[in-house]
Amino acid sequence: MKKNKHNLEVGSNIERSDERIKETQEVFTPMELVESMISDIDINILKNPESTFIDNSAGCGNFLIGLKKRLLNYHTEEHILNHMLYAVEMMKDNHKELCSNLGVDVNHPHYVCADALTYDYSFGELMKLESQLGKVKKPESYSPPPKNNEPSQARLFL
Ligand SMILES: C[S@@+](CC[C@H](N)C(=O)[O-])C[C@H]1O[C@@H](n2cnc3c(N)ncnc32)[C@H](O)[C@@H]1O
Repeated sequence: MKKNKHNLEVGSNIERSDERIKETQEVFTPMELVESMISDIDINILKNPESTFIDNSAGCGNFLIGLKKRLLNYHTEEHILNHMLYAVEMMKDNHKELCSNLGVDVNHPHYVCADALTYDYSFGELMKLESQLGKVKKPESYSPPPKNNEPSQARLFL
């Protein structure tokens, strides 16, 4: 097996065969493009501590890495990782690499190694419950914008 040149250049160190890449479509997004796409997100969405973002085919985590970096302007790392970001990735080695890139344990309930087509997207109901019970504090220096009829703020990156 060999290291795929494109993926190596965009941040993944995993060795993959051409056959595997063909099967799983593992061609990751370069960070410059990730950052440019994140720049298109409304700043109020980025500032809102209740905004959530998911990449359900996360690869080595480039979108989540870019989001984490941008969200650190407004939120703590703890809040971002435990309340704002979510990932699903089918390949075990990619999942391990994305967890390492984000700085979370492989068992963190928000970063799941699963098939996105069959996963139930529960992401550890316990964490949500703890948050609702006030065991996890929300940042204090934030007032939410008035409610409107905009569509969900969840973002899906593929
Ligand atoms: C085109 S890459 C995109 C990775 C990342 N979103 C990016 O833009 O850098 C697709 C990723 O989806 C994963 N994948 C493919 N089928 C999947 C499935 N059914 N469930 C979860 N992940 C899947 C592959 O392993 C691969 O890492």
